[in-house]
Amino acid sequence: MSDAILSVTGLTVRFGALVAVNHLSFAAERGNITSVIGPNGAGKSSLFNLISGAIRPEAGRVQLDGRDVTGWRPNRLLAAGLARSFQITNLFFELTVRENLRLAAQFVEPGPQLSNVLRPVSANRAALARVEELTERFGLRDKLDELAGYLSHGEQRRLEIAVSLAARPRLLLLDEPTQGMSHADTQDTAALIRGLAGELSILLIEHDVELVMDLSDHVIVMHQGQKLAEGRPEAVRADPSVQAAYFGEAADAAAR
Ligand SMILES: Nc1ncnc2c1ncn2[C@@H]1O[C@H](COP(=O)(O)OP(=O)(O)O)[C@@H](O)[C@H]1O
Ligand SMILES: [Mg+2]
Repeated sequence: MSDAILSVTGLTVRFGALVAVNHLSFAAERGNITSVIGPNGAGKSSLFNLISGAIRPEAGRVQLDGRDVTGWRPNRLLAAGLARSFQITNLFFELTVRENLRLAAQFVEPGPQLSNVLRPVSANRAALARVEELTERFGLRDKLDELAGYLSHGEQRRLEIAVSLAARPRLLLLDEPTQGMSHADTQDTAALIRGLAGELSILLIEHDVELVMDLSDHVIVMHQGQKLAEGRPEAVRADPSVQAAYFGEAADAAAR
């Protein structure tokens, strides 16, 4: 029996003549880390943009927990339990770490209209508790009053993940969370992601193949907008078509 938190069917988007995501289907199981890998330009970020409502598909369907959420706007999806962090950072650089987290934590699901009068106080208390918890977990306690723009690159990426967790999503989409990170920061981030699994489901785009193989329960390989292969990390790595399209290219790039 499958228990999909996310299921995508025949998802398609075109930019002019280019079919960036071409009839893509897959499912992500609840509590798992599902990863999407593929060479640059394969359509990974476009896929995330479709799932998270940043762009609308030309065809196909997105289901969250069995509910059709195709074409929903990002805020509505967030309220329904789907959060994403961006490949390009999405923080308010001119605000402190605390303010960035509090703004995100205040986005609580809309309660009954009646309680709106009382909400500022209780919501604020809940938001502050969430900020505490996240700064502890993400090792940002010493940085609470620093402007996000002054953090190191690794700290910014960590804060970005913390921000996307503030609204307590059930599914988190991470687009290359370790991009540009040092080896040590990458290892720390991997440990954080591993720690989140089980508590929530994760859909990860990642360029670092070793990291993907190490972290993932299930891997989807994209190539030119299409799904080239999917399965357990070991099986995907051993697949000859994947070797040719992805690892071959990665090896070429490393040799250059
Ligand atoms: N908004 C857009 N307008 C036009 N072309 C786009 C847009 N977004 C992505 N593309 C193109 O779609 C293809 C897939 O891009 P992308 O989804 O970013 O790939 P990946 O994340 O796998 O590197 C690329 O050729 C890219 O140039
Ligand atoms: Mg991308």
